[in-house]
Amino acid sequence: MKTLRSLALGLIAALPMLATAQQAPLPQDDNYKHQGVASCASSFCHGALNEKSTYTVLQNEYITWTRHDRHAKAYNTLLTDESKRIAANLGLKNAHTADMCLDCHADNVQDSQRGVLFDISDGVGCEACHGGAEKWIGTHITGSASHSDNIAAGLYPTEVPEQRAELCLSCHYGTKDKFATHKIMGAGHPRIGFELDTFGALQPAHYKVDDDYGQRKAVNSHVQTWGAGLVVAAEKTLSTIASPRFKGGLFPELSLFDCHSCHHPMDDKRYAPRPQTGGIGPGQVRLNDSTFMMLRAFIEPVSPSDAKALLNQTQKLHQASTRSMSAVISASSQLQGTLKRIADRIKDKPFSNSEKQAMLRQLVKLGQQGEYRDYVAAEQAVMAIDLLLLDLGQRSANKAKLDKLYAAVENENRFRHSTLRQALRAF
Ligand code: HEC
Ligand code: HEC
Ligand code: HEC
Ligand code: HEC
Repeated sequence: MKTLRSLALGLIAALPMLATAQQAPLPQDDNYKHQGVASCASSFCHGALNEKSTYTVLQNEYITWTRHDRHAKAYNTLLTDESKRIAANLGLKNAHTADMCLDCHADNVQDSQRGVLFDISDGVGCEACHGGAEKWIGTHITGSASHSDNIAAGLYPTEVPEQRAELCLSCHYGTKDKFATHKIMGAGHPRIGFELDTFGALQPAHYKVDDDYGQRKAVNSHVQTWGAGLVVAAEKTLSTIASPRFKGGLFPELSLFDCHSCHHPMDDKRYAPRPQTGGIGPGQVRLNDSTFMMLRAFIEPVSPSDAKALLNQTQKLHQASTRSMSAVISASSQLQGTLKRIADRIKDKPFSNSEKQAMLRQLVKLGQQGEYRDYVAAEQAVMAIDLLLLDLGQRSANKAKLDKLYAAVENENRFRHSTLRQALRAF
């Protein structure tokens, strides 16, 4: 039985965990007024032309976003011929006025939440990620409030990897309210792939993780960010697969599967068994299981038993997918249990270099076992190898080998598993 003292100690130890473990409402679902990018963009605030040293932050975030970040163009994308064609195929009047598109390509909050400077054509603006600024815009300038006060006032905790993953994946995977369905893709929308760490760098980052950043916020390694993103993506995949919302005609939602298990020419006979599919055999539509595969490589050095459970349960999920929805739901819930264990195990865990080396070896090994036959997994593996080398400080030494990996996955329509396997031998 716990004494009061140990209970109290336990509580104190649990407090910081609780503060970060709770999922904040996503900016798109918060109840604050969104003030618009123009309220952030003054040259004294975040619109400086160059980095400044007046405050702890760079102050040129707006310039980085507007010049180099695709999110700033997300609304304009809806005005292109490509989007017009997608909209026409879907029977929409316009892409740029349809919630179906705006929900991901802009900060599409309700009218009552749009401040005077709010402009929908800003696309995915500051507050689409940082949360409606109504209550924190004042205090975050005067410095009268701490970071956690600002968070309590609606600033989204983008620095916490799990919460960042929920944020990015809300558009780069989907939520219960919005999803890039196969119908949208069939109308011409590109496939959506994502990896939290790589895409964070590609965005590109408008913040510098330096000493003063480290004093204000927790600093995470590339591997920690990768792992957090994988767990959230895997959870989202399972809840989407098992959700009844896509029940339509004879077929389930096709975007949950490996696109190329359907989309490749018939004279290109490429079938060979792949271990993680649990022997479902030829002629089956394979679920997109790439996040589970990456999680296996990630967790093997830390907890071999979890890696084994993941393999076993993913195989069961594939087998269930050829039987019945109830089998799928039961296989999903087993996997969910494993994910929960992994999430607890890796929370705030630092990873040693030898663990990272071992992850790298696992990634190469999976390739040799033929697990990257499906493009989705190949793409994820290359991004993962890249970020591991970055964390290990071996990226520039391996530049030529990495280039070969990237070349092998550059075009998904011409992807050849054997080319990637060859490129992996160098590791
Ligand atoms: C409100 C929805 C939304 C959120 C939240 C969001 N994105 Fe995006 N993102 C988009 C859209 C839409 C595009 C495509 C923009 C375009 O080209 O029109 C995009 C594009 C990108 C690209 C460019 C992709 C490429 O192929 O070049 C990167 C990188 C990216 N996002 C990273 C992130 C990261 C990292 C996060 C989380 C910190 C994030 N995104 C959060 C909607 C979102
Ligand atoms: C679930 C979120 C989501 C929805 C819904 C969505 N998109 Fe996208 N869209 C994205 C993301 C994310 C990207 C960037 C993909 C990447 O490059 O990784 C994107 C990319 C695009 C691109 C390619 C942009 C480029 O620069 O190459 C077009 C065109 C596009 N979307 C149009 C639309 C239209 C039109 C609709 C409505 C019918 C729509 N999207 C609905 C998330 C979404
Ligand atoms: C697609 C999501 C996204 C968009 C859009 C976005 N940010 Fe960020 N921002 C992030 C992430 C992720 C971080 C890094 C995590 C953190 O420090 O909170 C960040 C960090 C920051 C920081 C903190 C830097 C530090 O040293 O603490 C500032 C300031 C900032 N962003 C301002 C802006 C401004 C201004 C805009 C609009 C011009 C903007 N952001 C648009 C995702 C986004
Ligand atoms: C179960 C098989 C299956 C899977 C899996 C699948 N598709 Fe499709 N796809 C189809 C069928 C069937 C059509 C309609 C073909 C037609 O109209 O000729 C189609 C049409 C398309 C089209 C339009 C092609 C055209 O000619 O205009 C695109 C683009 C597309 N799919 C993308 C994707 C993407 C991206 C994925 C993965 C996220 C995917 N598909 C997964 C079966 C599939």
